[in-house]
Order: sequence, then structure tokens, then C-alpha cells
Amino acid sequence: MNLKDLYINFFVSKGHKQIPSAPVVPENDPSVLFNTAGMQPLIPYLMGQKHPYGTRLTDYQKCIRTNDLDNIGDTYHHTFFEMLGNWSLGDYFKEEAIEWSFEFLTKVLNIPVERLAVTVFAGNDLLPFDEEAYNKWLSLGIPKERIARTSEDNFWIAGETGPCGPDSEMFYFRSDDEIPEVFDTEDERWVEIWNDVFMQFEKHADGSVTELPSKNIDTGMGVERTTAILEGKRDNYESSIWSPIISLIEEISGKEYKGNEKSMRIIADHLRTSVFILADPAGIKPSNTDQGYILRRLIRRAIRHAKNLGIDINSDWEQRIATKLLDMYSTYYKELVDNRNVVLEGLNNEKVKFNRTLEKGLREFNKVCDKDIDGVTAFHLFDTYGFPIELTEELAKEAGVKVDVEGYKAKFKEHQELSRTASAGKFKGGLAGNSEIETRYHTATHLLNAALKIAVNKDVHQKGSNITDERMRFDFSCDHKLSDEEKKKAEDLVNEWIEAGLDVTVESMNKEDAIKSGAECMFIEKYPDVVTVYSIGNSKYGVVSKELCGGPHVKNTSELGHFVIKKEEASSAGVRRIKAVLEEK
Ligand code: SER
Repeated sequence: MNLKDLYINFFVSKGHKQIPSAPVVPENDPSVLFNTAGMQPLIPYLMGQKHPYGTRLTDYQKCIRTNDLDNIGDTYHHTFFEMLGNWSLGDYFKEEAIEWSFEFLTKVLNIPVERLAVTVFAGNDLLPFDEEAYNKWLSLGIPKERIARTSEDNFWIAGETGPCGPDSEMFYFRSDDEIPEVFDTEDERWVEIWNDVFMQFEKHADGSVTELPSKNIDTGMGVERTTAILEGKRDNYESSIWSPIISLIEEISGKEYKGNEKSMRIIADHLRTSVFILADPAGIKPSNTDQGYILRRLIRRAIRHAKNLGIDINSDWEQRIATKLLDMYSTYYKELVDNRNVVLEGLNNEKVKFNRTLEKGLREFNKVCDKDIDGVTAFHLFDTYGFPIELTEELAKEAGVKVDVEGYKAKFKEHQELSRTASAGKFKGGLAGNSEIETRYHTATHLLNAALKIAVNKDVHQKGSNITDERMRFDFSCDHKLSDEEKKKAEDLVNEWIEAGLDVTVESMNKEDAIKSGAECMFIEKYPDVVTVYSIGNSKYGVVSKELCGGPHVKNTSELGHFVIKKEEASSAGVRRIKAVLEEK
């Protein structure tokens, strides 16, 4: 039987009701992105609300912590982890909590008492030394040398305010060395496996602490760490929780775990977390904000590390790993069964999106990484190639250069403000706002104009356009509703030209010469005698588009993103209208 089942069965036998794991995205708490501890979904009940399942609860709870993402790759950090817990809501207190912790560790998990040590609350200005906990451990057979007293480390609170109280942590001696008689909390051979919190206070924003309506127990045991310990592994990723995933990554990459630990751990960890975020009822998708951004970063970082391992990132490698994860966890989490396809599709979509630009982005990065990366360049890597700033930072670290993150943030903010101003409609007419996004859309209208001439017929001409920072509208002369094939062909052509990274060049010329040279123009009479002509092309493709235009335009079509036709409809007699968007790659 595995640890989760042993734990739940044990506490059920002690009169607890098993409650289901709450979603990873908190349902009623917008102050945090994810549940970071088993007790988090229970806060209202710890504060006094009646729980429908009674006063003794137990569960395994999905948790996500992404504050120390940089540590993933070492032997014991995970972004997603499961936390086992048992709770008393005004029911039993310290005596029973400690007694059952001891019983579970020594009788169910069969951990020898000699390998155990504990900490208790030493006391501070507000609260006295926890003599009760100390005496209880002593009575159970933990020698006094193995009971350390600390203050700060033995007071538990989830954030700044809320339910809290002194705690008592349990440690296991993970080493073949002789076990020292005296427990030293600084000695890293002792690893924490469980925490009993005696939750009887509430901390308020002004720093004051008051008694809760009842005395509660909140305990938490990390599944990953304890499993590794029970299996005698120093590296969590070698335990049975991870080994099937690591073996699969070895198989897919044709490389051994040894020597490639960091990338393999990152792939395993980040994909597991992504599977759980995607399966969550909150319906999170990769995006540039909040949970969606964390998800995006996790997937993109996993892809980058897969590439490091020489995995063909366009293959179904991540589908295979995710499928394995889904199979492994489906017994415990119903949402993985219900949302299996959502998870697999979500991963694939983000992979396809990122893979379109990863190669080019890495090339671009390699061009600029001979010196520190300024904010504008970091923003360019994000905006054009979809590199989250954290990815650029990681690459920079590997290249031994620094990134101006503050400069990046300033540029990002400026960009957001421009977009907001534009979408608030503060600029009227023609090219609203001239933000970078709109500039991209503007270039996209030229490409679409040229593509329609090939996909539909050469007599298609632009009749108008309208651009916001969210979409483009393009009106053109055409006597029929476009077929799906025609739309697809036009869309594919535009994307092909974007992928080809065609140069956008501008020249001034006499209006008559411009027309003679074949430059496209909407209303000839609108233009002055000397006009600017924008051409798009390169030596391989030739000139694919040439138009009289005031600009502005991007310098290269690779800056556009992915072009998608959203709608094609009638505009007026003989004029059709296409609505299209540029999606972030
Ligand atoms: N809340 C405590 C912890 O997270 C015990 O569950 O460690």
C-alpha cells in the first residue's frame, strides 16, 4: 500500500472523515494563485465555520508552490506536491495529535524511534514554551536530546494573517552515518517529514494575536519527501513517485538520468504541475497573466529542457509523458479522468505555439548574449519569440551574462499602457495608437492583401481596414463568399511569409513611378506626388507585397506572431470583410 492510502486509512481508523482534495486554484481566495498548503482550503473552518464532514478530517491535498522555481532541478524541490493532513476542528488537541503522529510513524511506517527527532515551540514575548508538547514527546520515548526548542521556526502561519499557532515538527535522520545523540536543527542529515500545528490563534493585520473560537489541529506531511525517505532514496526523483517518469524521459531522449538530472527533473516536475493545472476545474489555459502565465512558463521551460536533451520537440514526447502522469494519478483525482483530453490538447497547443519561435528566438538570443541583455532586448525576446523573462534569465545565467529585468518590466508596462490606451479608443481614425501591436497588424494587412490575390484572384483589392490592438479588419473587393480552401490558403500564405522572416523596406518615389512599378494602392487620388512605398520580401521569395502606404510597419515579418482568420463575411455589395488576429507565438 502506498503512503497516501496508509495515511488516510490510519486517520479514518481514528474517527476522521476523508475529504476530497480541493482544486489547486483556490475557489474563494483571489489573494493567492494556488493552494500552497493542505490547510488552505480549510481556513474558513479553522476560523470557526462548521464543516459538513464534522470535526475530524483527513485528506491528501494538491499544492503548488512556484516561488522557488529556480530551485527545481535539485533533488527535493517540486512545484506541485501532495500534502497529507489530519485536522481537528475544536475536537482533539495536542495530546492525541502527537500520539497519533508518533503511532503512524513508528507503527505504520515502521520508522525506528532512533531515527526520529522533533522540535517544539521555545516560547517568545507573546506565548510560553510548549511544555505540553515537550512532555508528550518525552512520554512517548523521544529522548530529550532529540527534542529541540526553537521559536521562530515553530510558529506556523500560512501568510501574514489568519489562523496560526505553535507547532512541532518531526525529522528523520537520512544518512548512513552514525546518528548523533543530540539533534541539531542545522544538521541537514535531519530532514523534516511532518508538522503538527496547534492552531489556536488568529493573527490580524495590525500584528495582534487573538484566540480562535476553538483549538484546532492542522498537520501536514509531504508525500514526495516521505516516500523517498521510506524507500531509502536521497534524491526524491529516484523514488517510485518519479522513477516511471524519469525512465520514460530516458527512453524518449535516449540519454541516461545520470549526467542529465537537472533537465530531466525540470521536465518531470514541470509537466506534472502543468497536467494538474490544466485539469483543474478553474479551466486555466496558458496565457500572460496569473495562473496562465505560470502554466506557460512551466511548459515553455520544459520544452527548452527537452531540447537540451536532444528530444525532438515537435514529436509527441510531452503527450507520452503526460499520458503516463494521467495514468499514474487518475485513481486519486477524478478531474484527471474527466479532463484528460483538455490536458493533452492544452499541452500540445502550447508546444506547437512555442516551437514555432523557439529556434529563432534561441538564435536571436545567441546573437545578443555576448554582453548583458538590456530591457528592450529582453522584451523583444518575449514579445516576438514568446520567451518568458524567466526563460531569458535562465539562458543568460547559463551564458554568464545578466539581464536588465527592471528595464524589461518598464518596457512591458509601457507596452501595456499603449495597448490599453489604444483599446480604450483614445486615438481615432486610421491607425489607432501606433502601438507595436497595431504596427504588426498593419503589416499583416499588407500580407493578407497580397495573399488574397494569390488565394482568391489577382483582382482582389483592398477597400478598407480597421485596426485595434486586438484584431484587424480587412475589406476587399470580391464577388463571392470565400470557400474554406481559399481562406486556408490565404492564411497559410501569410503565415508562410511570417515564418520566412521577410524584410520590410521603405522607399520614397514619385507617385506615377510607384504605380508603374506595380505598387498596390487603395485610392490613388489620396496620395501626394511623392509617396512612400513599402515592400515586403527577400531574395528567396522575391517581393511578395508592394504598397503605397504611410506606415509604420515592422522591420521583419517574423515579428508578427501567428496569423489566424477568425471570420469572413459580407461587408457591402461586392465587398467582403475578413476579421483576423495575430496570436502570440
Ligand atoms: N500548515 C502546516 C504546514 O503546511 C501543517 O499542515 O506545514
